Amino acid sequence: MSIQKRVALVTGASRGIGRAIALGLAARGYDLVLNDIAAQQTVLAETATEARRHGGRVLSLHADVSNKAQVQAMVAEAVAQMGSIHAVVNNAGILRASDVESCPEEYWDSVMDINAKGTFLVVQAVLPLMKAQRYGRICNISSIGGKHGAPEQAHYSASKAAVMGFTRVLAQEVGPFGITANCICPGIILTDMGRVNLDDPSISNAWKAKTAMARIGDPEDVAGPVAFFCSDDSAFVTGQTLNVDGGIVLS
Ligand SMILES: NC(=O)c1ccc[n+]([C@@H]2O[C@H](COP(=O)([O-])OP(=O)(O)OC[C@H]3O[C@@H](n4cnc5c(N)ncnc54)[C@H](O)[C@@H]3O)[C@@H](O)[C@H]2O)c1
Repeated sequence: MSIQKRVALVTGASRGIGRAIALGLAARGYDLVLNDIAAQQTVLAETATEARRHGGRVLSLHADVSNKAQVQAMVAEAVAQMGSIHAVVNNAGILRASDVESCPEEYWDSVMDINAKGTFLVVQAVLPLMKAQRYGRICNISSIGGKHGAPEQAHYSASKAAVMGFTRVLAQEVGPFGITANCICPGIILTDMGRVNLDDPSISNAWKAKTAMARIGDPEDVAGPVAFFCSDDSAFVTGQTLNVDGGIVLS
């Protein structure tokens, strides 16, 4: 199977880190299935147009990753139109800041539903296909926030820790089928979501000071490590969590 024939599904692909991952995979020769919610239709179409400049096939599909019926329909449509899915990047996610004491139950539920359950639902939908073809690359976008976190992000931290635990067990279940499952933990990355941490210059400067690289990350900083986990270069790497944070969490 040549790399040109590989198909990657990227969720939450219209903007930010998902967009950079999609364009990074397109540049490396992947055909793409780009997902986002229907409200992102225009932005997703722009990302798809940019990805097509690399010459591969690009299919855009709207689905809420926390909705099982929509996820199942998306994966079925992707396989019908693209022939297969070889790599999945579970990138879709939300952050709704609140301290624990006043956190509305709805914040907890929506953050867990999209970040944690959404990852599970997409993986569950692609596994029969990946097992049958005895090949798959699953890359789940967690966060360094799932390791130590920050105030007002306890529910977010819980959802990202869930993704890491899920991935470690998934790797053990699917390894014998030639499928790898790994996590990327971005640090502070300048996106619409990342601005929560960055709009206030004093907070932004404090984050910069915490990185070994002395800078905030760009979405493109995440694309290369994700491409590694989607490629055959990582064929014997599974159940791992890689910090892509410019050196905030050192291990
Ligand atoms: N930006 C950071 O500093 C940072 C740090 C660590 C981890 N992350 C993680 O990286 C991922 C991407 O974050 P980002 O910064 O690019 O955020 P973003 O808000 O810019 O992009 C998130 C994308 O996910 C989509 N999305 C949201 N809910 C969805 C759903 N139910 N179904 C499908 N798509 C949905 C959004 O529409 C959006 O396009 C997230 O999982 C986030 O938690 C981000």
